[in-house]
Amino acid sequence: MDSKAENKSNWFSERVPIDLEGLKHMTNEPVPNHLKRWWFALGGTPAYLFTVQLVTGILLTFYYVPTPEAAYSSVAAITNEVRFGWFIRGIHMWSANLMVVAVILHMSRVFFTGAYRKPREMNWIIGVCILLVTVTFGFTGYSLIYEQLSYWAATVGTNIAEGVPLIGPMMASFIRGGDEIGANTLTRFFVLHIGVLPTVMFILIAVHVFFIRTQGVTEFKFEEQAEEKEETFPFFPNHLLTELIIGLLLMYILTMLVVIFPPEMHEAANPLVTPEHIKPEWYFYASFRWLKINSFTVGIVGQIFAVVAIMAWPWIDKIFRRKNPNSEISIFIGIIGFLFFLVLTIWEAMV
Ligand code: HEM
Repeated sequence: MDSKAENKSNWFSERVPIDLEGLKHMTNEPVPNHLKRWWFALGGTPAYLFTVQLVTGILLTFYYVPTPEAAYSSVAAITNEVRFGWFIRGIHMWSANLMVVAVILHMSRVFFTGAYRKPREMNWIIGVCILLVTVTFGFTGYSLIYEQLSYWAATVGTNIAEGVPLIGPMMASFIRGGDEIGANTLTRFFVLHIGVLPTVMFILIAVHVFFIRTQGVTEFKFEEQAEEKEETFPFFPNHLLTELIIGLLLMYILTMLVVIFPPEMHEAANPLVTPEHIKPEWYFYASFRWLKINSFTVGIVGQIFAVVAIMAWPWIDKIFRRKNPNSEISIFIGIIGFLFFLVLTIWEAMV
């Protein structure tokens, strides 16, 4: 280091008590070669989209009014009057959808490569919590628009919550702030959507990344990489540049989606008229269809069971592999589960 740079570094370290060398080491751990393949590095995508959500969400909050009288008209004003309001709303809407897709894809990669196995079981559970928070973001955000379909989706959603054994009625009344969707519900959804959920998500992502940094990622070896002299490559600038390119590509895709399919306003909420077809967001289609084809109890208990089974999968998989260490039964069950989700989703979409 020349003396000028050294002086600068002294100036900084005297005033800001941060160990720059330690920070450099912490943010620059070597990355295993298999992460050169984009599907292994899909974890960065939801993180990027979450940041987009935070920025666009803050801008939308400047104009949104969370009361039953003004919610719909404030969203209409954002869409039709505020300069670039339609664009910001469109990016927020599309990025929310892409985030669900990205989280499902990342989770599928982790599942089908068995990367949830010892010692990463806890990080898998944190991941499932991230998925649940992501869809709760979607549910509360959709309800904030206060249009006819989103109002009735919220009504059905909270009625379903009411059916959960033991804690259901208490949970539904807490979410709604009364017996039906109204001013209290909107305030609660708003607080959840802009305060509680972002904080919880931020903490979950921080813990997730902390686990990844301390445990490292699962090592995978590919035949064509066997020849490579080094087993790792630098995070900075190589991996960061890959992530930046993925980020730019996502920004391009998002912009295209918003321009081609801009956000629209549908009929305003009318609590006195039940629509013929109630539609939640697409990622709840499977759950909605499952409820329609089963009795209420089987519909709800079945879904709670599915979430618990997904969380416990690292241990269920361990039981399968105890008998046969090379058993691929988890992959087989994963494919069946994914196809089941897909079929229910398409079935509901066609109604
Ligand atoms: C906001 C959402 C999420 C973010 C930002 C995120 C971020 C990341 C990142 C950056 C990695 C490093 C490797 C990679 O890029 O794939 C990773 C690995 C991992 N993630 Fe996530 N993730 C998220 C959601 C999830 C979900 C939903 C699950 C599972 C239910 C999950 C489970 C895991 C596990 C077990 C690993 C370790 C994989 C290995 O060892 O190869 N993550 N995550």
